[in-house]
Amino acid sequence: MAPLRTFSPLVLASFAAARQCSQFQVPVDISSRQGKFSEIPIETNLDVGAFATRFSEFQGNYSDALFTDFQTLKGSYEISAQYCRPDSGSSGTIQVLTHGIGFDKTYWDLSYQNYNYSYVNTALAAGYSTLAIDRFGIGNSTHGDPINEIQAQAEVEALNAVTTKLRNGGIPQVGTAYDTVIHVGHSFGSVQSSWLSALYPNNTDGIVLTGYSGAGQFLPYIIAGWNLHSARLNQPLRFGNASNAGLLKLAKQYGMNIDLVSGLQKVLGAAGVDLTTQEIGDIVSSTEILDLITGYNETVFQYNYPSGYLASSDLTALQYAFLYPDNYDLALAIMGEQTKQPVTVGEILTIGNAPMMSTFTGPVFVITGEHDIPFCGGNCYGQVPNSTAANIPAGVEMAFPSASTFDAYIQPGTGHGLNFQYNATAGYQVIQDWLASNGLGA
Ligand SMILES: *[C@@H]1O[C@H](CO)[C@@H](O)[C@H](O)[C@H]1NC(C)=O
Ligand SMILES: *[C@@H]1O[C@H](CO)[C@@H](O)[C@H](O)[C@H]1NC(C)=O
Ligand SMILES: *[C@@H]1O[C@H](CO)[C@@H](O)[C@H](O)[C@H]1NC(C)=O
Ligand SMILES: *[C@@H]1O[C@H](CO)[C@@H](O)[C@H](O)[C@H]1NC(C)=O
Ligand SMILES: *[C@@H]1O[C@H](CO)[C@@H](O)[C@H](O)[C@H]1NC(C)=O
Ligand SMILES: *[C@@H]1O[C@H](CO)[C@@H](O)[C@H](O)[C@H]1NC(C)=O
Ligand SMILES: *[C@@H]1O[C@H](CO)[C@@H](O)[C@H](O)[C@H]1NC(C)=O
Ligand SMILES: *[C@@H]1O[C@H](CO)[C@@H](O)[C@H](O)[C@H]1NC(C)=O
Repeated sequence: MAPLRTFSPLVLASFAAARQCSQFQVPVDISSRQGKFSEIPIETNLDVGAFATRFSEFQGNYSDALFTDFQTLKGSYEISAQYCRPDSGSSGTIQVLTHGIGFDKTYWDLSYQNYNYSYVNTALAAGYSTLAIDRFGIGNSTHGDPINEIQAQAEVEALNAVTTKLRNGGIPQVGTAYDTVIHVGHSFGSVQSSWLSALYPNNTDGIVLTGYSGAGQFLPYIIAGWNLHSARLNQPLRFGNASNAGLLKLAKQYGMNIDLVSGLQKVLGAAGVDLTTQEIGDIVSSTEILDLITGYNETVFQYNYPSGYLASSDLTALQYAFLYPDNYDLALAIMGEQTKQPVTVGEILTIGNAPMMSTFTGPVFVITGEHDIPFCGGNCYGQVPNSTAANIPAGVEMAFPSASTFDAYIQPGTGHGLNFQYNATAGYQVIQDWLASNGLGA
């Protein structure tokens, strides 16, 4: 499977098409009425596995079982953002991009192959500005208690606060006020964009939900399929704060050098295990070894997430959750694995709390990969009980009874992680064209 070349460090290409982008922190004050849950063991990988087991139980409701009371989370936090505008200047219309679980704001602007997979570049080319955020709790946004602080509702409040600042011209680094704000989400980011439209219908002008449907019954597929581990233990050098010196010492002890593949081959060879270079390469890239050594012999930014931040285990789990097999570039998937982000226990416990209905009166678009696992069970053309909709994503229309326009689109040959499949940019264009033909052109 993995050609060894794909394992070498990414050679970051020269820069992409001219554009004006900057990164900064946006301070927000939020107040969120949300759940208070019983503390559960979350230190070890087996603790985390037990959580996933209980959460995925047929006809169970683990959120309900752990719920003790409501509480109000109130505080000042920082949201990390990337702002981009076209070279020609801003048109007054901006897309606010909210990533899903397993990613951060770079999901929208993948640097791979000179930004060939960049959603941001497609939106800029269509004349939009973009603001991609790291969701509250994730990436370079403020982290917090993974059970009782970092929950869905708090993240929606943070997204809304950022939106209000964009409208008021309240972000100095943006330097202008946007009167038209389109919320574009992926997966959990779509849940939150839709949720925002239900709570604050006047604060959005258009909703684009990618990797989304209203069907909740497939959530256990992905919770189980991720094979969740403690993030700190999964990528100790990047998610935790483990020292590289320790890994290097271990490698030395086993007679390895930085060339891990030939090192492993030597060690296994000495033990009488005869594997080809290709086979070793496959093992390194498709198992947790890849995660254990991410950051090996280089300086990686250490997120130092506390226990209770969980990560999908390895590339196999990433493929199950996000990628339709045989229709993606393996080297890009490996990059996705090495730059993945965690999910908190509190997020999983509250992901199902979104309001059932939104009174939003503007245009709503849903675009989901044909083989999406968490929102379609792998087949978006399937029929869910009691739905008369043409397909699963089309069923979202029920939740937006006042929308001025509603359309659903199925992106062919694609899994949940739309931005990582071949043909991703054609899907991006479908979105820009739909916006333009529904009164939201740049
Ligand atoms: C679980 O219970 C909570 C109430 O505590 C409820 O809001 C939620 O809808 C339930 N989830 C499911 C999937 O039934
Ligand atoms: C977070 O900040 C660090 C240090 O500046 C940087 O290396 C990393 O790429 C950033 N991550 C995101 C998701 O912005
Ligand atoms: C949205 O705006 C309308 C018209 O100005 C107003 O009647 C309504 O109360 C507002 N809704 C919210 C949730 O602020
Ligand atoms: C780390 O890698 C560099 C080359 O990328 C190599 O020169 C150096 O010796 C390595 N350090 C260790 C301790 O293996
Ligand atoms: C590493 O992270 C743990 C957990 O957040 C923390 O308790 C510990 O102090 C950190 N160690 C260093 C050296 O930062
Ligand atoms: C389908 O509708 C029937 C009749 O309204 C109801 O009894 C049943 O619970 C519904 N099933 C699901 C899965 O919603
Ligand atoms: C970008 O992707 C398209 C297909 O989506 C492909 O035809 C093209 O060669 C790619 N360009 C680069 C620079 O990889
Ligand atoms: C690529 O995506 C576009 C837009 O959804 C679609 O029309 C086209 O059929 C797709 N191509 C393939 C080969 O799936």
